[in-house]
Amino acid sequence: MRILIVYFSGTGNTARIAQLLQKEALAQDTVCEIMPMEQITLGQALPDFHAWDLIGIGFPVHAMDAPQIVYDFLKLLPKGRIAYFLYKTAGSPMLKGGSSYRIRESLSNLGWRLRHEQLYVMPPNAFGTANPRKIAKRYLQCQQLVKESISEILSGIKRLLPDPSLSSLCYQFAALEKHGAKQSSRRWTVNQNCNQCGLCVAQCPAANIHMEEGKLIFEDKCLLCLRCWWICPQRAISHSFLKPFFLKEPYCLPEL
Ligand SMILES: Cc1cc2nc3c(=O)[nH]c(=O)nc-3n(C[C@H](O)[C@H](O)[C@H](O)COP(=O)(O)O)c2cc1C
Ligand code: SF4
Ligand code: SF4
Repeated sequence: MRILIVYFSGTGNTARIAQLLQKEALAQDTVCEIMPMEQITLGQALPDFHAWDLIGIGFPVHAMDAPQIVYDFLKLLPKGRIAYFLYKTAGSPMLKGGSSYRIRESLSNLGWRLRHEQLYVMPPNAFGTANPRKIAKRYLQCQQLVKESISEILSGIKRLLPDPSLSSLCYQFAALEKHGAKQSSRRWTVNQNCNQCGLCVAQCPAANIHMEEGKLIFEDKCLLCLRCWWICPQRAISHSFLKPFFLKEPYCLPEL
């Protein structure tokens, strides 16, 4: 079995689950590679999806749905009888991660076949709190779930997440969030602590930030993934509207 996992991760949770899945698959003598989704959506790479036995697609839940980048990625996928599994990370067990119906439907229209689906409740990167106890507890639970998921995937056990009955409501909420993300893109602010290191420019998965005459400009393609805020070594980035919903500080996950 050869597995390729393509994931999007704003602040590291979904990336970490990809790494844990890869580690567990390799431990079970399975070839497994992982790839950040933005490499594909930014046109830096395009894997031959037909060359793999199974494709994994991972993303963080944003407003009970997936971030826009996932829908942009789906548009680039080929038709064919390709087997895939979905996984998502959420910051809260409430509403069980919302709905993946539209993603499943798009892939089904291409002929792709869903084999497995899993939700990992990680510490929240926003809209909640993340103390060291919560981080350690949820991480441990996710490590265990990764083991179970890889066993199920490799032994061909099909597991699908039930779609919530309020799935249409999820999408109305998600549409608002996607609209809000773009609208609020220019409300990112940068204070005098910025030393123009360029990390946020280089790391933005939507190529939404650029530097003009030493000043950072945010365009209107923001995914609200929070990566720029999370990784800025100077803690210079803030958001004039959403700041009250952010964590006090980014956290580090336990060592891999
Ligand atoms: C804009 C935004 C919206 C979010 N919406 C939800 C949500 O509806 N439900 C939920 O459980 N978590 C939500 N979260 C939390 C993330 O899904 C969660 O922290 C996830 O693990 C982050 O993954 P990442 O580190 O790979 O980006 C949201 C986070 C952001 C930034
Ligand atoms: S990462 Fe922070 S310090 Fe570096 S350019 Fe961006 S805002 Fe400035
Ligand atoms: S501007 Fe920041 S929050 Fe928006 S997509 Fe880029 S890194 Fe993510």
